Amino acid sequence: MTNIMTLKVQRVKESRLSSTDFNNLPFGRVFSDHMLAVNYQNGQWENARIIPFGNIEVTPALTCLHYAQACFEGMKANRDVNTGDILLFRPRENARRLNASAIRLGMPTFSEDLFIDYLKELIQMDKDWIPDMEDSALYIRPVLFGSDDFIGVRPSDTYQLYILIGPTGPYYGKPVKVKIEEEFVRAFRGGTGDVKASGNYAATLHPALLAKKEGYDQILWTDGQTHEYIEEIGTMNVFFIIDGKVVTPALSGSILPGITRDSIIQLFKDQNFEVEERKVSVKEVLAAHQAGTLEDAFGVGTAATVTHIAELGYQGQTYRLPEMETRKASTAIKEELIGIKTGRVADRHGWIVRVS
Ligand code: COI
Repeated sequence: MTNIMTLKVQRVKESRLSSTDFNNLPFGRVFSDHMLAVNYQNGQWENARIIPFGNIEVTPALTCLHYAQACFEGMKANRDVNTGDILLFRPRENARRLNASAIRLGMPTFSEDLFIDYLKELIQMDKDWIPDMEDSALYIRPVLFGSDDFIGVRPSDTYQLYILIGPTGPYYGKPVKVKIEEEFVRAFRGGTGDVKASGNYAATLHPALLAKKEGYDQILWTDGQTHEYIEEIGTMNVFFIIDGKVVTPALSGSILPGITRDSIIQLFKDQNFEVEERKVSVKEVLAAHQAGTLEDAFGVGTAATVTHIAELGYQGQTYRLPEMETRKASTAIKEELIGIKTGRVADRHGWIVRVS
């Protein structure tokens, strides 16, 4: 069994840091010098190691390639603007959700404590990769997958867990146009929609491509049964402000329980906003737009932070959201969230874990 004492470390011969353009950090393309790898075999996790970031060799018969036995997480680390400490945001929640995803997909779980300890070691090693520009962070991508060399349909006997890290700017650089999706379905209650299964994102790709051809950035999923109720955006959870109230779809069993979603709900409540987690129908949102009471709409997620929606598209019609200057509440909440993550705002909920 692996533990923090048996973590092996192999350093890069030469860092790529000096040849990395920190003024141009597209999401998901720049990775730091090292990554964490752990293998599962013979019923246990072993061979935990920090190694140079690079390609891995896998068999084309790999379980996850054929049957999507794979899940992942998204997390961020920032520097405390006052002390320079490295701050992780709610990492235990990600460790828990990784395990929830693993269980749903028939995969072994991983110790939450060890997950956080290994991550801290990795980040310490590559701490110079943490960007300090406004709206940037060290993005953390744990991924767990079945790695058997076998194409029979059964859970893999072997697994690999990697944690990749890399500096990133914002996922979306500007407010997004979102199409309300009525034909395709992301998830049903009882499926895998409420965990971070890699396959959930695959289901998004074709409809998102079609939406892109119509000029949209993403799709807003509706429920699989009736398409009457809003669920989430392809890359983030969704919120509305209707007549002063913050409204977001309740976790229905087919919606991802976003950690940013949960944090945003708390931050709005702290500001004495009424927050309703309930069914939100397309009809209600469009009626509010018609009545002039749809004050705001935005997506939230680790990568996206808080991303405003510029336009909703539904059945060929465009519904423009109010100008950004009026969307003060969500902009303030975004600033507060970033403030907590960077030590500018007090961490009154104990969300921050320091890497020391
Ligand atoms: C994240 O927000 O970190 C995610 O994993 C979502 C992904 C679409 C980038």
